[in-house]
Amino acid sequence: MRIGILTGGGDCPGLNAVIRAVVLDGVNRFGDEFVGILDGWRGLVDGAVRPLGIDECREILTRGGTILGSSRTNPFSQDGTPAAVLSRVGDLGLDAVVAIGGDDTLGVADRLAGMGLAVVGVPKTIDNDLSGTEVTFGFDTAVQIATDAIDRLQTTAESHHRVMVCEVMGRHVGHIAVHAGMAGGASEILIPEVPFSTTAVCERLHRRHAGGRYFSTVVVAEGARPEGEEERPSSSRDEFGHPRLGGIGATLATEIERLTGYEARATVLGHIQRGGSPTAFDRVLATRFGAAALQSVHDGDLRRMVALQNGRIVRIPISEAVGHPKTVDLDLYRNVAGLYLG
Ligand code: F6P
Repeated sequence: MRIGILTGGGDCPGLNAVIRAVVLDGVNRFGDEFVGILDGWRGLVDGAVRPLGIDECREILTRGGTILGSSRTNPFSQDGTPAAVLSRVGDLGLDAVVAIGGDDTLGVADRLAGMGLAVVGVPKTIDNDLSGTEVTFGFDTAVQIATDAIDRLQTTAESHHRVMVCEVMGRHVGHIAVHAGMAGGASEILIPEVPFSTTAVCERLHRRHAGGRYFSTVVVAEGARPEGEEERPSSSRDEFGHPRLGGIGATLATEIERLTGYEARATVLGHIQRGGSPTAFDRVLATRFGAAALQSVHDGDLRRMVALQNGRIVRIPISEAVGHPKTVDLDLYRNVAGLYLG
């Protein structure tokens, strides 16, 4: 078969491991030929592709980012573009496309599949907010990076008797905040799913400091909002209409200092969480996903996304995964993570 591969949306550690698994398995087991589609769906809009064989996949398992490039191009944001994408697939002689991405990229894949595209999806996002899969690759790496950062913030917080606010990624969901906050022993974890009261946060910090522990760390997801605020203010939106966030950490640190009198500082981890080499867990998951996606293509089981459920790789309709983010389990947030806060 002649198969196109693309990576769309925010990059994430493990993308190259998926590409490698698909290509190695395809060439060695099935005699497939591959076409690398550049910069997500934009590559099919513009016709930007590159050769993709075993040679191109050497030594990429451990590399972060994606050798194919990525973008947040949405073919459905312009009239006529979806049809142009389909005819491009025909011109390139592709029998199928493996689309590696999150909610946006796979949402596009599903809509194009409805128009006739032969496509299989692989779930990717450091946010871990895709439904239908217990975990996406990239999440474990992001949590490890955020945990390392929190560990470091704890020691400087202790030295200076400060409140250190650490802003992590998570536009709609707080999985990174909850996992890294728990792993790093944060005093407060604030997530988009549960609007917070700044006064209540400050009261808890007061109790903690009055109890003789003169430093705290607060982990806040970028999409977390104080009660009463509808949406975080943002400077711009991408082609899928998502706001560009950032700033809650600094706002919160200022408020904490004002309301408690404790010195506070903010650190924004930002794209550091998306960069660098994937953890062993993410390399293995990405490799399993890649091999399973290729098998799905060869089985003619299309418009599917591979997913992890109960430790096994399964296939689900793409439509089951997209359009409704997987939010944090509030039992974990309130009853388990909450036990260790304070
Ligand atoms: O890919 C998801 C994500 O990392 C979000 O957590 C974050 O809000 C967003 O991407 C940032 O996007 P960009 O790289 O376009 O600034």
